[in-house]
Amino acid sequence: MTLQIDAPPPPEAAPPEAVPPEAPESGASESGPALVTTYLRGPDVQLAPAARGERREVDAAVVVSGLNVYYGSFRAIRDIGLSIRRHAVTAIIGPSGCGKSTFLRTLNRMHELTPTARVEGSVLLDGIDIMAPDVDPVQLRRVVGMVFQRPNPFPTMSIHDNVAAGLRLTGRVAKAELDAVVERSLRRAALWDEVKDKLRANGTSLSGGQQQRLCIARALAVDPEVILMDEPASALDPVATLRIEQLMAELRASYTIVIVTHNMQQAARVSDETAFFTMGEDRAGYLVEQGPTSQIFTNPKHQLTEDYVSGRFG
Ligand SMILES: Nc1ncnc2c1ncn2[C@@H]1O[C@H](COP(=O)(O)OP(=O)(O)OP(=O)(O)O)[C@@H](O)[C@H]1O
Ligand SMILES: [Mg+2]
Repeated sequence: MTLQIDAPPPPEAAPPEAVPPEAPESGASESGPALVTTYLRGPDVQLAPAARGERREVDAAVVVSGLNVYYGSFRAIRDIGLSIRRHAVTAIIGPSGCGKSTFLRTLNRMHELTPTARVEGSVLLDGIDIMAPDVDPVQLRRVVGMVFQRPNPFPTMSIHDNVAAGLRLTGRVAKAELDAVVERSLRRAALWDEVKDKLRANGTSLSGGQQQRLCIARALAVDPEVILMDEPASALDPVATLRIEQLMAELRASYTIVIVTHNMQQAARVSDETAFFTMGEDRAGYLVEQGPTSQIFTNPKHQLTEDYVSGRFG
């Protein structure tokens, strides 16, 4: 049995960035972004072809390979390799404790805020190794923004100042420019109409769903390329959740989005690509398979994925 999907799956047509079969299997062109072959990888599967036995080429914004993350001597994720498609929504799904948040945090080096955490492997953002010592994590987090599970507006700041906060950190910005960025970000986060008459009110005076959109506006204000969302709607009611899902559908035209979610219907509704993680007996999380969301939910390659998406496990 496979899960009933509320929304129709994405069309079967090849994505616009698909390349003809005679194209090389991987590699970067000098003018364009790297074309990277996505693949399945688990403890028993090495470089297995992806959906329906065919190799797929995707325009990847982020390419992760050989990623291991440890907390002290405990290995939380094992040898993860996956690529994250540009201007698409990638959902990370899997049982509690399999390392989804750990994985997400390594994409903008948030793990460095955890003293015991240690990372091996590489994360390439547009071909640049974000783990390199000369990459400034503060700058990186502007390019790879994050939205957390619970809305966390800065409690003493107004709505306006919450959105402007990231920009202010970068130095002096003229007021007119700041106001323009605040308006643009709130519009993109689909919150402007609800707050335009009370920009000086405290950010925490908003509803939970509005606060989460405020946090999304705050992330957008610094003009990121990638937005990481760790269960962004799990603390929200169904109406606010729907609003966030609609917003993701709009944002993916301009941003690369990675979302962790426990909600299978949500993953099926909002994402273009899905990566399923699980964990082994040593409790280390690993990637079972990655592919187009419609394929992962209706025709997964692995029994483990089938069991998870159909609710038999986790
Ligand atoms: N700061 C930490 N120190 C030590 N161990 C940690 C830390 N954070 C996470 N872990 C461990 O790493 C593993 C993965 O945790 P993580 O939070 O990434 O899982 P998750 O898939 O996001 O789970 P959930 O779905 O419950 O949010 C778990 O075994 C967890 O206990
Ligand atoms: Mg988590």
